[in-house]
Amino acid sequence: MRIFAIESSCDETAASLVDDGVKEIATVVASSSKIHEQTEGIVPEVAARKQVEYVVPVISEALDKSAKALGLKTIEDVVRGIDAVAVTSGPGLIGSLLVGVEAAKALSLAWGKPLIPVNHLVGHIYGNWLEAEVLPEFPAVVLVVSGGHTDLILMKGHGYFEYLGGTYDDAAGESFDKTARLLGISRYLGGALLSKKAAKCRKNTLSGRLPRPLLHEDNYDFSFSGLKTAVKRLVENEKNKVEVVACEFENAVVDVLVEKTIKAMKEKNVRSVILAGGVSANTQLRSRMKEAAGEVSVFVPPLKYTGDNSAYIASAAYFNQVYKKYEDIQANPSLGVMDKV
Ligand SMILES: Nc1ncnc2c1ncn2[C@@H]1O[C@H](COP(=O)(O)OP(=O)(O)OP(=O)(O)O)[C@@H](O)[C@H]1O
Ligand SMILES: [Mg+2]
Repeated sequence: MRIFAIESSCDETAASLVDDGVKEIATVVASSSKIHEQTEGIVPEVAARKQVEYVVPVISEALDKSAKALGLKTIEDVVRGIDAVAVTSGPGLIGSLLVGVEAAKALSLAWGKPLIPVNHLVGHIYGNWLEAEVLPEFPAVVLVVSGGHTDLILMKGHGYFEYLGGTYDDAAGESFDKTARLLGISRYLGGALLSKKAAKCRKNTLSGRLPRPLLHEDNYDFSFSGLKTAVKRLVENEKNKVEVVACEFENAVVDVLVEKTIKAMKEKNVRSVILAGGVSANTQLRSRMKEAAGEVSVFVPPLKYTGDNSAYIASAAYFNQVYKKYEDIQANPSLGVMDKV
């Protein structure tokens, strides 16, 4: 089954063609993130306007690229082979989401193909099914760590999720971004840059000085807002090298993410651990999770599928929703990972 998918939940506009949920034929991603650096954060109206500007060129380029990849002469030939259109319907910024959803409705109508709405957070998980040599086995514990969400889920099969826990306040990615801004490392998305800085730290002289929130609580929940405040207090009161503070901060976040995920892995007796979302690009999180999981396989998405991408939206649609019929598809900015689209 061949699915054409669109993703527009935040500041990326993306379109992909994917076969059977696992083989990417072509993807095109445009991003307005450089513009949001100037305002040190995303202005939803600006992001939405960029989505409007990018959506048609991105779709058109994705179809061109698909034609080349498939050895077909025209876009019409590509369209003829498409079985369904999928689109992120939430969560995200309402203005951004609406652009993708309405574009997908228009394509579905014009091409006469069914339209499948996809939960963006479920999409993040399916970055692990694309270009994978070995696929995750169920049951699996899934840690979704992105810019706006941090959730632990027990995945018993495709579409069979049990919620274990999540953050009470800031998401892990959000805490990386806010801390990076506080340390003067980055003005907008600072997770990767903070982690690079932390890697330069030779000796963590601040080891254990920052809190590991909820580490020893008997639950699967997280809380990261206090950690960011603790960093603020630390830099206000003492002079420390930025790379040392970055290192201690990264260690604190990774300690909690690994501990809670491994607790779930053991208590739920799973066969795989799956990481998903932007923070799953973090090198330390990847290596420490693999080390702590021992015999249990840890799956991480290829780096290009850690951030927002439409290829995994097609994959999620294929594995979860192709046989359902949708009447009225609406953008929903506040969809949770367990919410039905
Ligand atoms: N190497 C890294 N280490 C830590 N954090 C990282 C790294 N690379 C990216 N991130 C963080 O990942 C986040 C972006 O991820 P993603 O694109 O999945 O989030 P989002 O789409 O903004 O939010 P959501 O998916 O919840 O709607 C940012 O917070 C960014 O700082
Ligand atoms: Mg995302």
